[in-house]
Amino acid sequence: MKHLELLPPEGSLRAMDNDFYGMVGGGARLRLLEVFIDLQIPELLGYRGPLPAQQICALLGLNLHRGWKFLHLLALSGLLEESNGVYSGDETLFGLSANATYYFGPTGTEGFFYRDLVAFWKKVANLSLIDVLRGAPVPEGIHWPYATPDSVAHFEYYWMRLTAAGSIDTLLQSQAVVNAHQLLDIGGGDGTVGCALCSAYPDLQVTVFNLPVSAELARTHIAERHMIDRVQVHEGDFFKDEFPTGFDHVLFNRTLADWQPTVCKMLFDKVRRSMAPGGKLVINEAMLEGNTDFTLAWEFRYIFYDAYGRALFKPLSVYKQLLEDAGFRITKVTPMRHEAFYSVIEAEAVH
Ligand SMILES: C[S@@+](CC[C@H](N)C(=O)[O-])C[C@H]1O[C@@H](n2cnc3c(N)ncnc32)[C@H](O)[C@@H]1O
Repeated sequence: MKHLELLPPEGSLRAMDNDFYGMVGGGARLRLLEVFIDLQIPELLGYRGPLPAQQICALLGLNLHRGWKFLHLLALSGLLEESNGVYSGDETLFGLSANATYYFGPTGTEGFFYRDLVAFWKKVANLSLIDVLRGAPVPEGIHWPYATPDSVAHFEYYWMRLTAAGSIDTLLQSQAVVNAHQLLDIGGGDGTVGCALCSAYPDLQVTVFNLPVSAELARTHIAERHMIDRVQVHEGDFFKDEFPTGFDHVLFNRTLADWQPTVCKMLFDKVRRSMAPGGKLVINEAMLEGNTDFTLAWEFRYIFYDAYGRALFKPLSVYKQLLEDAGFRITKVTPMRHEAFYSVIEAEAVH
């Protein structure tokens, strides 16, 4: 049980020290998490249930003294549940915590997204940040947007389709497109979001605007879902092409946080030119508010990938300014919900 009276008051010197330790502790947490995954502890404890430290260390080939400390710190970081450990003995029990079960499933074998996040982190974590900041070549640069059919397919399927549910739910709950008839979904992935919106709203027609390789995937996916009469695909590159006209709703779903503010402004200008009079611009996006650690985790990696721009996860105030500069006025903001870290902005053109 935590004794709240032992915690320092907010703004005190002790609280400031705690913040600093929070940063150093973040490094410890990350190393622990990497090894937790690499040693397949989720799988082991998911399959066997809580085990004594002695047995876990024997099964994993760990030095018992060091291994005990490691397991204890995993418990302090919230990944394990520790019991029977008052004397820090070899028999202290360690099992998966509720958090670990949420991330990796009850059997410890799930959590593709969380595992991929750590795997991507590890690709850059061991490089010298100072060397990279001074311009050293980065061994595994990536091209963004993805260019080869394999990388596009991996991205659209594993990263976008499999994680789309939270954003779709946020959008539906916001009711931002409840009155839409003709909706243009810019950077609309493989049509997953468009199909979900058409299933929710019987009078809706969606057009997915995307680059050629993604557009091809979208055509296949939309056909598999028997939605070709409701969801069309418009091949285009938003850097080169104007948007098709005649849409009463234009949607950016998880697309603007890939681009820095100058690009977003250019896109809003294009929407302003193409959208039907009285139309609505809808943005469903991870914003900076409430997502600071998320932003740090992603944008740290982006230092190593020159293809990504600056300040991609933007606060609402930046969106507001960009929209105003492009001739839009925000009419409604729906904050992020329980299910996902996206917020919804609705805007209309100022005449
Ligand atoms: C992060 S994904 C979001 C996909 C989808 N909206 C979703 O929420 O699942 C970004 C999308 O923007 C598309 N995209 C990137 N650059 C583009 C460009 N220059 N023109 C058109 N689409 C682009 C990508 O192909 C991808 O489908």
